[in-house]
Amino acid sequence: MRKPFIAGNWKMFKNIKEAKEFSEEFLKLYVPSDVQVAICAPYTQLSVLVDSFKGTGVKVGAQNMHYEDNGAYTGEISANMLKEIGVDYCIIGHSERRQYFGETDETVNKKLIKAFEYNILPILCVGEKLEERDSGREYDVVKTQLIKAFESISEAAMEKLTVAYEPVWAIGTGRTATPEQANEMCGYIRSVITELYSEEIADKVIIQYGGSVKPSNISELMNMYEIDGALVGGASLKPTDLIEIVNF
Ligand code: PGA
Repeated sequence: MRKPFIAGNWKMFKNIKEAKEFSEEFLKLYVPSDVQVAICAPYTQLSVLVDSFKGTGVKVGAQNMHYEDNGAYTGEISANMLKEIGVDYCIIGHSERRQYFGETDETVNKKLIKAFEYNILPILCVGEKLEERDSGREYDVVKTQLIKAFESISEAAMEKLTVAYEPVWAIGTGRTATPEQANEMCGYIRSVITELYSEEIADKVIIQYGGSVKPSNISELMNMYEIDGALVGGASLKPTDLIEIVNF
């Protein structure tokens, strides 16, 4: 049985004071359940959130990391630095990083390998752009992203992986994929993992949908068989919205 997993992606929002206020308000409303919850925050808020959520079951994630342990990489943060402060998860290959910061399938692969080495649980983002869907290439695009991301990744590591299917055209646009479209692609992702590894492994991988998830559409998405959770951007910034989503 796969555990439902709702992860917030704060992107470049909130300062330390706002992060503290969020966690206080969120914890007043939060009742631990079968649903795994994580907040992926900017680097400067991570320690504060790790402290605030200690012992509550709510996990903390980063939004990016470098693939080397250390070195002359000005402005970068490594997996061991994240581990040192108690971070559990890291988003890898978000489309905004692919689009604005030169993230490629190759760097995504290197980052996945490094995350597993340090026991940081990766949330691997894949998804097609609008023109790719419009030209009927969405399955090919996602398959290529997966094959390249998984190079040299062991079966044991795969069991700890979360994949987030985030169609680029649905991110921050208010335009959600229909539950059927999201379910179809999440099922396709599972079939690619079956092909590359095995059905047993594919059954264990958590597959989220992301892209304009909000309190009003979460339950129909979570009702779909292949969708195990959601990666939530804008609607994760307000504790009341996120709680509604977690309690889908
Ligand atoms: P959104 O972002 O929910 O604001 O569309 C999702 C994401 O980018 O992970």
